[in-house]
Formats: sequence, structure tokens, C-alpha cells
Amino acid sequence: MKARRKQTAPPPPEAGEARIAALLAEKRLFKASAAFRRQANCRDPNVYARSARRPLEFWAAWARELEWARPWKKVLEWKPPQAKWFVGGKLNASVNCLDRHVRAGSRRRTKAALLWEGEPGDRRTYTYWDLYREVNQFANVLKRLGIRKGDRVAIYLPLIPEAAISMLACARLGAIHSVVFGGFSAEALKDRINDARAKLLITADGGYRRGSVLPLKQYADEALAACPSIENVVVVKRGGQEFPVHIREGRDHWWHRLLQDAPAWCPPEAMDSEDALYILYTSGTTGKPKGIVHTTGGYLVGCLATTRWVFDLKEDDVFWCTADIGWVTGHSYTVYGPLAAGTTTVMYEGAPDWPARDRFWDICERLGVTVFYTAPTAIRAFMKWGAEHIQKHDLSRLRLIGTVGEPINPEVWVWYHETVGGGRCPVVDTWWQTETGHILITPLPGLTALKPGSATFPFPGIAAEVVDAHGKPVAVGGGYLVLTRPWPGMLRGIWGNPERYRAAYWSRFPGLYFTGDGAKKDKDGYFWLLGRVDDVLNVAGHRIGTAEVESALVDHKAVAEAAVVGVPHEVKGEAIAAFVTLKDGTGHYDELVEELKEHVVKKIGALARPERIIFSADLPKTRSGKIMRRLLRDIATGRALGDVTTLADPSVLDTLKGRYAEDAE
Ligand code: WTA
Repeated sequence: MKARRKQTAPPPPEAGEARIAALLAEKRLFKASAAFRRQANCRDPNVYARSARRPLEFWAAWARELEWARPWKKVLEWKPPQAKWFVGGKLNASVNCLDRHVRAGSRRRTKAALLWEGEPGDRRTYTYWDLYREVNQFANVLKRLGIRKGDRVAIYLPLIPEAAISMLACARLGAIHSVVFGGFSAEALKDRINDARAKLLITADGGYRRGSVLPLKQYADEALAACPSIENVVVVKRGGQEFPVHIREGRDHWWHRLLQDAPAWCPPEAMDSEDALYILYTSGTTGKPKGIVHTTGGYLVGCLATTRWVFDLKEDDVFWCTADIGWVTGHSYTVYGPLAAGTTTVMYEGAPDWPARDRFWDICERLGVTVFYTAPTAIRAFMKWGAEHIQKHDLSRLRLIGTVGEPINPEVWVWYHETVGGGRCPVVDTWWQTETGHILITPLPGLTALKPGSATFPFPGIAAEVVDAHGKPVAVGGGYLVLTRPWPGMLRGIWGNPERYRAAYWSRFPGLYFTGDGAKKDKDGYFWLLGRVDDVLNVAGHRIGTAEVESALVDHKAVAEAAVVGVPHEVKGEAIAAFVTLKDGTGHYDELVEELKEHVVKKIGALARPERIIFSADLPKTRSGKIMRRLLRDIATGRALGDVTTLADPSVLDTLKGRYAEDAE
């Protein structure tokens, strides 16, 4: 293909500051090469108009690509805020991700479904046939342990193939999986297991992260001390003697032992299109994470459509989405989307800078990655580490690169396009959420003229608007991002809490789904995402509720009150600053700072560790007693103070400002 560089060509130069500035100053649109456009999966610009006229037909056409045990009777039943997609249809997600390809002829059957690499360098390759067999076997194991349709299974694993196998095995039986990110603490795991009342936990002896071992089974044991619903635990042996584990007879079982004599075929459960496929916990504006519920038919349709059109995947592509399986991106674009599309998907267990800062590029070169999808926080780190780590490797097979998770600033976008993409790969900046299930705002790489920093347009079949405070659409300008029509992969609710579902998403603007994000639309109709407008932080692409961190802090015996805000951070995008009032009055206790940070790590996980803790005798509050976070944010970022007319005791501010400045020195 013309667009690909020859193996011998010199690597592209790093886009330095001057070049980035010059490219941005040109204000040109970045278009894919003619060769890319010619081969693109979606090259018909009429798809937007057509799908807007007949969105249900558009989605039904995608649904027909899947295999149904019984066809649907009706595409959509919409009783706001409850949507049902492909009503009456029956299907199984594991059949669509595996059996369908295994039956499609020897080429697909023996094709690599999963290329996995562990952090220490161990590698495993699963063909579709291999994966199909292991999923069937493990489904039989789960069955033998009493797991049935509708039961909840918690998965707390490192990024190893068993994570995908566990998810698909649950799907085969119709059990609902709840994956908990391996970076979450024992307490966070316990809360999630108990909220879902999971019957079984799948974990591992440990996992590797930056050369050291995360003792997952040990954390799991701590959690299980207070998880009465768990009957059995399956433990994957990830390592050797490095991972000493305690096995409790009768409750804990080694994965490899159970698999030894498990039958190779497990009949799939025909699931109703609207049966739950999984629960995934995410942060909201209260201290308690929300169990987002996704169902089977619509979710798979949305994942398949976006995987094919946004990532432009062909039979020979090797697709690497770098997200951990503990986040929705890992669910939709490491497992369900790529496997439904019959792609080769890549999984890497460890850190991007282990053993060196070129680990990702080394993997891209050795595995021949063609489409690469990562987060802006990672790109900012790569940029800081310098282009030499990239230039060491032949990345000429890359043909498309993407980002997700937070707004990407135009400079970083251009650097990514030039330095990683060699100036030839289109960049797909994809906006979506745990709740949306799949990508909703995104370029179509063969069609869309790109503007660095803009996620461009709603995917065909998706209706999004920017609205003002009254819910009125803004033609050009800023406001709140809402979705005005249901879409196939949308969440169907919050596990065990229908009222919160309504309140969190459907009450701000009646009849519209409120995303919690600010956005603006420019004169050409491009969408620009501006970050959260609620009390949710985005730290290194991870969603963390300010209220969660606050309740973790208040849980400490010395703390009377806490208020948490996000402050800009060069690599993480946002970092956590916490203002804390102590029970025995004010004081500047250095040793307490570390203790409180550790306490948050213990309650939530390392991802929520506050960057700064500032003690204060008081917190600024409105007369009705609400903490004025906006003011704290202004203090923490050193900005001029906003409106203080509602402040109960204005002198609090001066004290706080002084304290923060002192702390920053
Ligand atoms: C943010 C991750 C700007 C946004 C898939 C959203 C983005 C939250 C983008 C969801 C993007 C995600 N540009 N912001 N391309 N993608 N976000 O649930 O604030 O972990 O509401 O899902 O991430 O985070 P979540």
C-alpha cells in the first residue's frame, strides 16, 4: 500500500514545538491519504444523512451481521428512560465472538484471536479455535461450581488472557460478569462484590506491574473476609514461587486444575437481547460507585459497528487497545468489539515504561500492530519521554491511531499524528463513556477531515447536541453535551438502583440523556469536548468521584471534613488536591499528609492517591452549608477568585489561600 513507509525508510522526525506550532497555525484540516480513503470500510459520506433519516434501519443492518438464535421482532421500544433494543431477539455474545468465526472456515479458525504479552516478556497466542476451546472448558468449570444464568461473577485479574476467557465464559452461560480493575484496593473490591452480590470470584495469585508483583489473591482474601455472597474462588496461577498464596480448602480452586478435566464443549445459553451481559462500576457524584448495567444485543451491535467503522479493521489487521480490562474500553475494544469483528486483538499486562520507555513501540514492532488505540495521558507521557524511544522502532505497519478517555489538546494531537503516526495515520479521537457502552462521537477515518483536539461528529445513527442551561440546542458555542435519542449500547440502568439511574442521567434535562460533559460546537458543526461539568475527576484517564475520595478521607479518625478538587497536571491531565479539616482543630501535621494519602489508597486504590493535602481550620461554604468547590479549585490552581457573594465566612478564603501557597513552596 502506498501509504505505508518502506521498512528501510528513515523514521519520521519528532514533531518539535516549532513544527507543532506551525502546523496548528496553518489551521488546515488533516485528511487521510487518497489510498487510505479508497480502502476505508466506510467511504460513503451519505451514511450520515441516511442514518439520521432512518436510524433504526441503520442499526438493524448492523444487527444482521451478528448471529441470532431467534430474530428480533422490533428494533426499538422506547419508554423514556427505558430502552429495549432488538426486542424478542435471542443471541449469545460468546457465540458471536467465537463460534461464528470458528465455523467461518479454516482461515478464521486458525487466525490469531489474541496476542498476549506479559510484563516479564512471556508471550501467548490464542487462535480463534484455542480461545473457543478454553472458553467452553471454563464455562463448564463455572457450571460445575454452580454458576447459572443471571448469577453475578466478579473478576479481579491482571491483564492476562484468563480475563477475556472468564468474561466470555460468563457470557456463554448467561452469567453477569463484574470486572474490578486490578488496581483497586481490597475495600473497593469488597464493596463491588457486595453491591452485586456476586457468587464467585475469579482472581490470580498475582500480576506484574513495573517489575514488582501485585499480590491480588492477598487483596482478594482481605476483601472476602466480608463478602458473604461468595461461594467459590477460582485462582489463576500467574507466577511461580514469587506469588505465595493461601488456598482455603473448599472455597478456593486453582484454575489449571479445574480446567484439566473440563469437557471441551459447553452449549451456549440463548440470551434475550435485553438480558444483562455485565455490570461495570464507575464513579459518579456520590461516594458510592454506580454499577452500570449493559445488556447483550444492542451492546454487541454498537461495539461491532464502531469497531468496523472507527478502527477500519480488515482481515489482516492487528489491533491494540492499550486499556486495562477493568475499564469499559477494555470490555468494548479489547474483547467484545474486536472479537465480534473477527480481528486479532493485542493484550499487554504491564507498564509502558517497563523495562524501558520504548516497551509499547517494541510491542507494536514485534507484533506488527496496524491499529493502535490509547489515552491522552499515555501520549503526554510519551511526549515527555522523548521521540527517541519511538524512533528506535519500525512502526511502518501502523495505519491508524486513536485516543480515548479525556480531551486531547491540539499540541499533543499533532505530536501523536506526526511522531507516532509518521504523519500518515489518521487520528480518531473517540468520545464515549462507561454508560454509553461504545464510541459515540468520533471521526470516520476514511471520510472525516480532522481538526486536532476535536472528536468531530456523532457516529452515524447517534444524535448528540450541545445545549444551554435550559436544554435548548446551541448551534454554535458552548454548553452541555446531551444525547437526544437512545442508542443500542446505552446503559439499561444502575444495578439495584433504578431511581439513581433516572436522577443521574435523565433529570437535568427532561427527555435528554445528560453526559456530565461540557462541549462546544464550532461553525462547521465539529464537537469539542471540554471535560466534566459535575463532581467527577479524570485522573490519568480514570474516572474518580470527588465524593469518593472525600468519604475515604473522612473515614480517617483524624479528619472532620474534606473537600476534593481537580488541579491541572502535566501528564495525568488532572490531579487530586484535598482540603482537609481535622477534628482537633487546625494544624500542619506533616506526618499526617502521608498517612491520609495512604488511607485513600487503602480505601480506593493507588489511582486515587491525592497529589496534595492542605489542612485548613475551615472550608468555604455557602450559607446553606454547601462546600464551594469552585472556590477551592480557584485557590488550588492559583486563579483569581470567582464570585464570593454566597460565601458564609469570607475570611476563610484568605486563610486557605495563605495555607495553600505555603504548602506549595
Ligand atoms: C471523558 C471512557 C474528551 C469524558 C471511555 C467522559 C473524553 C468520561 C473522551 C468517560 C474524549 C472520554 N474527549 N473527553 N475523546 N473520551 N472522555 O466512563 O469526560 O471511564 O464523560 O469512559 O471520559 O469516562 P469513562
